[in-house]
Amino acid sequence: MAIERLRDGEPAGAGVDATDFTLSSDPFALFAVWMAEAERAEPEDANAMALATADADGLPDVRVVLLKGFDRRGFVFYTNAQSTKGEQLAANPQAALVLHWKSLRRQIRARGPVSPVTPEEADAYFASRHRDSRIGAIASQQSRPLADRPTLMAAVAELSAQYEDGPVPRPEHWTGFRIDPVRIEFWQNGDYRLHDRVRFTREGDDWSRSRLYP
Ligand SMILES: Cc1cc2nc3c(=O)[nH]c(=O)nc-3n(C[C@H](O)[C@H](O)[C@H](O)COP(=O)(O)O)c2cc1C
Repeated sequence: MAIERLRDGEPAGAGVDATDFTLSSDPFALFAVWMAEAERAEPEDANAMALATADADGLPDVRVVLLKGFDRRGFVFYTNAQSTKGEQLAANPQAALVLHWKSLRRQIRARGPVSPVTPEEADAYFASRHRDSRIGAIASQQSRPLADRPTLMAAVAELSAQYEDGPVPRPEHWTGFRIDPVRIEFWQNGDYRLHDRVRFTREGDDWSRSRLYP
């Protein structure tokens, strides 16, 4: 995932303490630095994150999605709004995420309210996807029971023929969601389980910072 600019013209890494990350003042800048390091270190899907939601009864659920956008407004992923997670977010528009980078021995957690991205943002991202992925997104009734794989492949073939070489429109229910974090925590493995943790908590336009016991 190419990290979008945090803000126009903003120097990367400002607000990050290069010698001790727990002294950094800006969680978004620190996130950008760790994400960039993860993209260099992880062989696959450095942007894969566990996304936790809860249903209307408060029962938690979790699955992996890809982080597709990040800036000062929050963390964006794309999905089918009619999926199980989409239904859960409609009932309870709050979520938590965790990224774990095994080779860097780091973890980032965040939580906060969730809102849909604008149709323009969703259109732009949908248009950037491979044509076959766009067709697949239309063909998949994500999280609904599927009789067998040939049923799905037949739907894909039918849609491919229907759109031929023309534009593949984004279904309205295929969209993105943004988690606007109220808390972000950074964790770095330490020897003998004496890990370093720093938690940022949103306070209006500012963030308070506290170091936590491991
Ligand atoms: C590495 C990885 C990346 C994934 N990325 C996405 C994604 O970006 N969006 C998505 O809807 N599902 C993604 N999935 C599939 C989800 O984990 C999940 O199976 C699907 O979204 C249905 O979840 P739900 O039934 O809770 O709605 C990904 C799975 C893996 C393992």
